Amino acid sequence: MALSFFNKNKKAKKSVEKLPDTLPNHVGFIMDGNGRWATKRGMPRTFGHREGAKNFKDLSLYCRDIGIRNASFYVFSTENWKRPQDEIDAIMDLFWDYLSEADQYLEKRVRMIFVGDRSRLQDRLQKRMNELENDSKDFEKMNLILAINYGGRDEIRHATQEIARQVKDGLLDPDAITEETIEKHLYTAGLPDVDLLIRPSGELRLSNYLIWQCAYAEYYFTNVLWPDFKRNEFNKALINYAQRGRRFGGI
Ligand code: IPE
Ligand code: IPE
Ligand code: MG
Repeated sequence: MALSFFNKNKKAKKSVEKLPDTLPNHVGFIMDGNGRWATKRGMPRTFGHREGAKNFKDLSLYCRDIGIRNASFYVFSTENWKRPQDEIDAIMDLFWDYLSEADQYLEKRVRMIFVGDRSRLQDRLQKRMNELENDSKDFEKMNLILAINYGGRDEIRHATQEIARQVKDGLLDPDAITEETIEKHLYTAGLPDVDLLIRPSGELRLSNYLIWQCAYAEYYFTNVLWPDFKRNEFNKALINYAQRGRRFGGI
């Protein structure tokens, strides 16, 4: 583990001067374009996932260092099970490798939170995810939210089931259900809505990512593929975000 990316983490300082004063409280990243990045280089798609994972590690630490309080990353969607089994296996192996060295986040006081239905994941992954969540639960520097086997519709289905059970058991009056009731039952309970949603790779869609939490998000799309979406590209997104007027329906 001597060559861990964490040890090689570049200091964020150099780029900090260029950043705007208004930073989003929650930045969501849809890490798309790994496959195309590899294909363009005549390499297998899994090569792109490896490169994408490296970039994710770097940007997650950069978010922490520049003072973003909540950063969420779309790792694997409920729809991604449609992919060839060898690609799914490669992604899960990369995720395992990542989790194996994620203790380093704890030293940096980053709280790790996993959202999605983890029951379909390998036992070793579930065990490690629970462990990291537990060991980091008191950390305040940044919430690092990883969406794995996550789907926004599946999340709302899951919340609805929990609420329906409470109604059935006579613990909740249907007339007392508010938006807050629903939020409390989402995987993201207690976390803030997304302020800035970033999707590289040229696709202009949410692909089922945090659909409830993005209701008033600002969107930033770029053609750059995820493995090339580095700190400087992220800085551009932050500068662009700072110039936007958010009204939330007001004037
Ligand atoms: C995103 O990159 C990674 C995952 C969905 C796991 P893709 O694999 O979707 O890359 P493209 O979109 O095919 O280029
Ligand atoms: C979204 O990317 C899922 C993740 C990045 C994990 P996809 O590549 O799966 O999305 P679509 O299929 O282009 O909508
Ligand atoms: Mg894709």
